[in-house]
Amino acid sequence: QDNVRNKIIEAHELAAKFYHHILNNTVQGEEAKRYLIERGLTDKLIDQFMIGYAPVNWDVLTRFLMNRGFDPKLLEKGGLISVKNDGEGYYDRFRNRIMFLLRDRNGKPVAFAGRIIGEGQPKYLNSPETMLFTKSRMLYNMDLARSAIKKVKQIVLFEGYMDVIKAWSAEVHNGVATMGTALTEEHCLLLKRHCDEAIICYDGDSAGQAAAYKSIPMLEHVGIKVLVALLPKGMDPDEYIKTYGGDAFRHGVIEQAVSVTKFKLIYLRKNHILSREEGRNQYIVEAVKIIAELDSSTEREIQLKELSKEFDISLDALKQDCHEFRIQQQ
Ligand code: CTP
Ligand code: MN
Ligand code: MN
Ligand code: MN
Ligand code: MN
Repeated sequence: QDNVRNKIIEAHELAAKFYHHILNNTVQGEEAKRYLIERGLTDKLIDQFMIGYAPVNWDVLTRFLMNRGFDPKLLEKGGLISVKNDGEGYYDRFRNRIMFLLRDRNGKPVAFAGRIIGEGQPKYLNSPETMLFTKSRMLYNMDLARSAIKKVKQIVLFEGYMDVIKAWSAEVHNGVATMGTALTEEHCLLLKRHCDEAIICYDGDSAGQAAAYKSIPMLEHVGIKVLVALLPKGMDPDEYIKTYGGDAFRHGVIEQAVSVTKFKLIYLRKNHILSREEGRNQYIVEAVKIIAELDSSTEREIQLKELSKEFDISLDALKQDCHEFRIQQQ
């Protein structure tokens, strides 16, 4: 069993080098390379993250690895190739895609994610779940981010590959991605082993914001303190860095990450029309509920004061409501 695992890892190592070589040194890889450079990646980043390109052919990787003595059954088990429909022979799983290598937290290559060049569906094609790769447990870039995370006891949580890589180029070295928006309990437990604090930096679209909202209690549940980095509406970290640069991202987004309470209030605001009395009243009630969740009475008072000022309501009335919500929450 251990032998099979090692062989699958070895196959991924070779495949990664193969795809990387095609991207960097062949005519077939030129379009993909141009695309990556246009998106703001550099040769150095492409090397560090071992990005590659799987050509359009049906079986280049299959032949490459079989020529090196790999058993196709093992390659199929590792998710690199598939059996043909008629049951005769094999073909490459990834074709005409930019290849992101997924390494486990010890740096062992265990899977790939292939991105289409430009528009198209599916945007990313991932390796299937294998004995080495479980999506619910994988955090992209945990291997490279590990030492930075250890130093600052903090991680930055992104949605995707490009976010992590662009953030890395902006000297945010403690970034990892959940590869989509579904943070799992297993992810949280794994993170807790490495850090005390997490900055959620999900996309600024509604899916990303909803996912951030859902992730907060999961992280808090394992004892991780949470902050949320805010992005302009509809922008993701990679687009932000492309538009405003790495320094703006570090100083203006990551370092400005807000508390969970602030984030929840901002989120709540988006769902109420404050110019209407009904929406305004609902907002105030819900806001007090959020504030009531704060452990510190000073913090609660600060937040209630702001609310009192903004909507011209007596602080006493808000405090009274807050108090009642706290009793209910117990
Ligand atoms: N994802 C996936 N399969 C898809 C779409 C998304 O696995 N069909 C995962 C990928 O890990 C992706 C992440 O979800 O990086 C976030 O999705 P999205 O925001 O749509 O993609 P981006 O990371 O912004 O991708 P890009 O910048 O390359 O467009
Ligand atoms: Mn190289
Ligand atoms: Mn997204
Ligand atoms: Mn995105
Ligand atoms: Mn993106």
